[in-house]
Amino acid sequence: MCGIVGYIGQKKAHPILINGLSNLEYRGYDSAGISILENNDIKLIKTKGRVKTLFEKTENENLNGTIGIAHTRWATHGKPSDENSHPHLDNSKTFAVVHNGIIENYSELRNMLIEKGYKFLSQTDTEVIPNLIHFYYSKGNDFIHSVSLAIKDLKGSFALSILCKDEANKIIVTRKDSPLVIGKGKDEFFISSDTPAYLDKTKEFYFLDDLDMAVIQQDDIKFYNSNLKNIKKDIKLIDWSADSAQKNGYEDFMLKEIYEQPNSIKATISSTLSKDKVQIEGLELSKEYLKNINKIFIVACGTAMHAGLATKKIFESICKIQTEVDLASEFRYRDPLIDEKTLCLYISQSGETADTIAALKLAKEKNCKTIAISNVIGSSITREADFSIYTHAGPEIAVASTKAYTAQVTLLSILAIYFAETLEINNPDIKILKKDILDLPNKVDEVLQVNDDIKELSKKIYKEKDVFFIGRGIDYPASLEGSLKLKEISYIHSDAYASGELKHGPIALIEDGISVVSIITDEKLIEKSISNIQEVITRGAKTIIVTNQNLPANNFYKIVNIPSTNPYISPILSVIPLQLLAYYISKEKGLDVDKPRNLAKSVTVE
Ligand code: AGP
Ligand code: GLU
Repeated sequence: MCGIVGYIGQKKAHPILINGLSNLEYRGYDSAGISILENNDIKLIKTKGRVKTLFEKTENENLNGTIGIAHTRWATHGKPSDENSHPHLDNSKTFAVVHNGIIENYSELRNMLIEKGYKFLSQTDTEVIPNLIHFYYSKGNDFIHSVSLAIKDLKGSFALSILCKDEANKIIVTRKDSPLVIGKGKDEFFISSDTPAYLDKTKEFYFLDDLDMAVIQQDDIKFYNSNLKNIKKDIKLIDWSADSAQKNGYEDFMLKEIYEQPNSIKATISSTLSKDKVQIEGLELSKEYLKNINKIFIVACGTAMHAGLATKKIFESICKIQTEVDLASEFRYRDPLIDEKTLCLYISQSGETADTIAALKLAKEKNCKTIAISNVIGSSITREADFSIYTHAGPEIAVASTKAYTAQVTLLSILAIYFAETLEINNPDIKILKKDILDLPNKVDEVLQVNDDIKELSKKIYKEKDVFFIGRGIDYPASLEGSLKLKEISYIHSDAYASGELKHGPIALIEDGISVVSIITDEKLIEKSISNIQEVITRGAKTIIVTNQNLPANNFYKIVNIPSTNPYISPILSVIPLQLLAYYISKEKGLDVDKPRNLAKSVTVE
């Protein structure tokens, strides 16, 4: 996601737009740009880098216009660069557009416009929008009709703020699936992706519904539906503080990001599964190449490595390729047995983790093809890998990774399907898995209903010194992730074990009152898992079970029921109660959830 802003009023737009972008930088910060309408001309300045860089490039530019738009980017198509920054203009420089979202059919629109003589200066999906508006404008339509016709051709998500130099007394805005709000001042209006941008200017906001349009002038605003019929919009009062609103009303970024998971998974799935065969932007592997691969290595650190562990089974069962998962910091020093018949996948939310980048370079020295799975377009790791594919989780601000993890497991599952389809493997599980992946956002919404239950549970265990997580099969990697979440934000000692491993030593640690969290999502392993749980109960443990199974009568301390899903992707659902548990325990302890001690969001050192 990114941040878009606009201003129309009597004051100089430039400082107001820069201030608005600064308040939205949590939405994306790889590049920024501004357009100001002056003397029926559109001034455009844009740059790779933070909003501060944009301010430094514009502060002495005498931008005196009182109408403008601006953008801070979270790249999805085209790496962070000056030319890929927004605003984007059409070839004739009649229109300027800032965009938040993904235009899924941008390739076909770009090709159509190129055939009509348009040229493209950037690699973004966004740049098709101003040229498409101009295409309709050149047919004799006015500004609003050209915009209305253009957005009918767009597939995907968009929040748009648009200037036209020929109708230089207005801004037109519209949205579909991406947020956009309009703040009302005295003879001025403030446009933005989110209320934090201008809570310091107004508490009165209009909220657009999908495909609504607004034509905003200095002292007037008119709303239209997708048929250009006049509609009425009521003002809503937002009395948040600016800081709390950056978190959309959530107390912490981590909780906000846990609740963003239905949308971040939906955005990650995006258009990959909509065709008969999976297509992943930025990836092109042949059947011949994949047939020659006899091993897949998944290499990462921390949570990203847990995402790899959670998907090892899919690659082996669906693609029939042996799959190893390794810590980057170990992989890079142990002279791994890899060669041109090994395909190496590197997972990194930030794309800046030193160990993971170093491990990728090692694979390249051994002639292995490399695929980076990252959440940050243009990050260092994506510049090293042969191919880069992206989660679209949006900026993850909290140090403890949540939405990136579930987006990684989702994308890796889709990647496995891509491999299997490329290999022309006929497996009925693939069709079922696709459908279950598409259903994930709804299932995640359902899991989030356990919030209050987990909040109550956290009050009962936040004072404990040790908490153990156990799971068998696919539930073991989810246990590892749950344990890491708890450790890193509550500072409580925690470990995760394969349930069957307890009796080989760790059970010596179990004593009266110790909490043991067990995940049970595989019906074939229920009996065995319950035996392991009974072993710890007889030694005094309090057992908390996260399950989608109907368990027999039991003496468990707490059962947290979650919806069932495809066994291959159950960690995406089973991890959510554990994310919430770690969060609420940390809050009970009065700790800084978003910035835990000793940790950084991106470990760029070794
Ligand atoms: C996870 O909550 C931690 N913040 C940490 O383990 C993280 O997953 C790890 O440092 C890898 O980061 P990356 O995905 O940006 O490479
Ligand atoms: N898809 C657009 C781009 O990559 C907008 C990205 C965003 O919403 O951050 O420039």
